[in-house]
Amino acid sequence: MAGKQALKQGEKVLFGIFGAFIVAAVLGYIVLEVVRYNLDKPMYQVTTHFALSDDGLKGSVVFREGRCTACHRAMRNGTNMGLSLDGLGSKRTVDWIYAFLRDPEKMYSSTTLDHGEFPKEAAYVAKMPETELKLIAVFLSELISDQGSPSSPVPPSGESGFIDGALKMVAPPDWKDKYKDVREQGGVEILDVEKNATER
Ligand code: HEC
Repeated sequence: MAGKQALKQGEKVLFGIFGAFIVAAVLGYIVLEVVRYNLDKPMYQVTTHFALSDDGLKGSVVFREGRCTACHRAMRNGTNMGLSLDGLGSKRTVDWIYAFLRDPEKMYSSTTLDHGEFPKEAAYVAKMPETELKLIAVFLSELISDQGSPSSPVPPSGESGFIDGALKMVAPPDWKDKYKDVREQGGVEILDVEKNATER
């Protein structure tokens, strides 16, 4: 019978480094959670909001029970691994969302990963009853982005050093003669343009 072998010097160093990483990660996590718990405002700025109608509220229940949160995030609940649907209503219409849930492969410009025909993992979604999918579509269309947030199709209003700098680099000086500055139009109008664009 072979006895237990002592660790070699190199192995000790390797395991030591590995262990130190784990300890650092655990400590970091504890510190982060303690700091977060004691903050009186959210650690990250919240840039989406929602105002749910009765159907939207029902849809949020179907959404939760439909295991959508296994891959998605909505109303700041769910997983961080997949696509966040917060703010979706600023990008997609209720009709687009319903059509996507029913027939994802037709509505998507690129190949879908999880929605679509079996054996894709979210194939069950298209088979859910029509009434449930309609409620979910209403719910998701009521998740709105604040203008200028990362999930919003509309850039922040007013001056922006970053946008103005980028424009200076890439756009000819007289671009405003030919094009509209969407930041000067106010959000709502552009949202409509964007929504129409996604419907085509
Ligand atoms: C197995 C993971 C998974 C599950 C479960 C899942 N989804 Fe998805 N969802 C995705 C992925 C990935 C995409 C991106 C499209 C694709 O590749 O399939 C997506 C895209 C979407 C989109 C389109 C977003 C956009 O604007 O591009 C909607 C709407 C959506 N899902 C709703 C739902 C709803 C509602 C449920 C539950 C009934 C659900 N999903 C369950 C993974 C999932």
